[in-house]
Amino acid sequence: MKQRIAILDYGSQYTQLIARRIRELQVYSEILPFSTTAEKLKENLPAGIILSGGPNSVFEEGAPGIDKEIFELGIPILGICYGMQLMSQALGGEVMPGKAREYGKTEMTTLPGNDLFTGLEERFTVWMSHGDRVAKIPEGFVVSATSENCPYAAIRNEARRFYAIQFHPEVVHTNHGQEILSNFIFKICSCRGDWKLTSWIDETIEKIKAQVGDDEVVLGLSGGVDSSVVAVLIHKAIGKRLHCIFVDNGLLRYKEDLQVEEMFKSKLGLDLHIARAAERFYAALSGVSEPEAKRKTIGREFIEVFAEEARKFSHCRFLAQGTIYPDVIESSSSTKGPSQTIKSHHNVGGLPPDLKFELVEPLRDLFKDEVRAVGRVLGMASELLDRQPFPGPGLGVRILGEVTKEKVELLQQADLRVQEEIRKLPNYKSIWQTFAVLLPVKTVGVMGDQRTYEYTCAVRSVDSIDAMTADWTRIPYDTLATISNRIINEVRGINRVVYDISSKPPATIEWE
Ligand code: XMP
Repeated sequence: MKQRIAILDYGSQYTQLIARRIRELQVYSEILPFSTTAEKLKENLPAGIILSGGPNSVFEEGAPGIDKEIFELGIPILGICYGMQLMSQALGGEVMPGKAREYGKTEMTTLPGNDLFTGLEERFTVWMSHGDRVAKIPEGFVVSATSENCPYAAIRNEARRFYAIQFHPEVVHTNHGQEILSNFIFKICSCRGDWKLTSWIDETIEKIKAQVGDDEVVLGLSGGVDSSVVAVLIHKAIGKRLHCIFVDNGLLRYKEDLQVEEMFKSKLGLDLHIARAAERFYAALSGVSEPEAKRKTIGREFIEVFAEEARKFSHCRFLAQGTIYPDVIESSSSTKGPSQTIKSHHNVGGLPPDLKFELVEPLRDLFKDEVRAVGRVLGMASELLDRQPFPGPGLGVRILGEVTKEKVELLQQADLRVQEEIRKLPNYKSIWQTFAVLLPVKTVGVMGDQRTYEYTCAVRSVDSIDAMTADWTRIPYDTLATISNRIINEVRGINRVVYDISSKPPATIEWE
């Protein structure tokens, strides 16, 4: 059975980062709800357990706890931040409520003899973010490191292989963080580090074959990275028994439908069906200008068009989806509170009840960068894998106010010029997203001797790691100048270009 590290999730914003760091060390890691019991873990015993950090205080009523039997499993455990406090409390130590929060970089001094810090210098910087702290360590534990504000920055019980640290090794601000995780995983948990994507691909293709058997699969292809990789992966497993549906909603980038057809049908030989539904979307959007109403309309039409097309494949038993690991965690993690809906995202889901498909979701275990890596191993082109994200409602949320076919064509032309110029930048791959937005504002201009009165276009480009926060890209002035000149000179109907210099928050990436 595959070796794995289990991470119990106490709600830290860094939990996913811990999982990724461990996978970077080629050990499979999995995030589980904090309520996972020892019995459950025994079904497929992990090589080690990590208790993540979290926003709670162990003193709060209803604070997330731990099944104490987990400490009897005989496997190594590493508690991080809240995980440390929880471990200390559960094993008979004492936690003290913090008067002041310790937040930021701290110098830590390690004491000799701790295998978690093997090979590291004696003093180095770590990242702390906690209020409460351990006041008395549990019996059997010794101190491994101290910092000025934290006499128990790290503690351990070597005999039981329990380790706890008050700082976050998974964030880049902690020096030697990756080495600390590596020491835990290899020296303490004796992992092999043989989790490789090539073997993941072989295993996954076998699993798809086993799950699907002689049946057939339908897939909603969006042209984005996840659904494209799913398509190629399932195609490898079952060939023409995979049927892909691509909905042309008339809100795509310039000639995107043709590019998808060329790539998937002609080059990769997939059974691709394009539902040409542009006119239908424009009709539904007629007179709708409120952003949420537009999103809902586009989402509803999408489901209807997709369902109509999918009914042609109702003999298929399965529906494939490009669900990836962050989607799974976000929807299942028991510690996440309800967050406010800023924008309603629509992706496939909620098909009508007559369409009863079983799901095939081969990317459920992977992070985005791993999905890209799988695509690369499968020989997919970089133009497909390194694409910038594109929202489901497409240009619909980049044409402010009412959407019409004419405005879509105008924006496609402007956006095409933005894409062509931005791709010439040497740092293109490090930019999160760049696009044009059509504003419902007309301004006066002059062309030759003629007065013009035409639309304004905004250019938006952001740098981001996860789209949760973003800063505007410092595009060189010369590139901005070329973009502006080209749009104004080549696109009839736009006579002014502005550059959006808002960060997220408080702005969002898309304008609607
Ligand atoms: P915002 O505008 O919320 O966007 O800052 C964050 C990221 O999400 C993308 N986005 C969407 N993606 N369906 C999607 O699949 C949607 O409805 C949707 N709306 C926004 C956006 O492009 C950015 O990358």
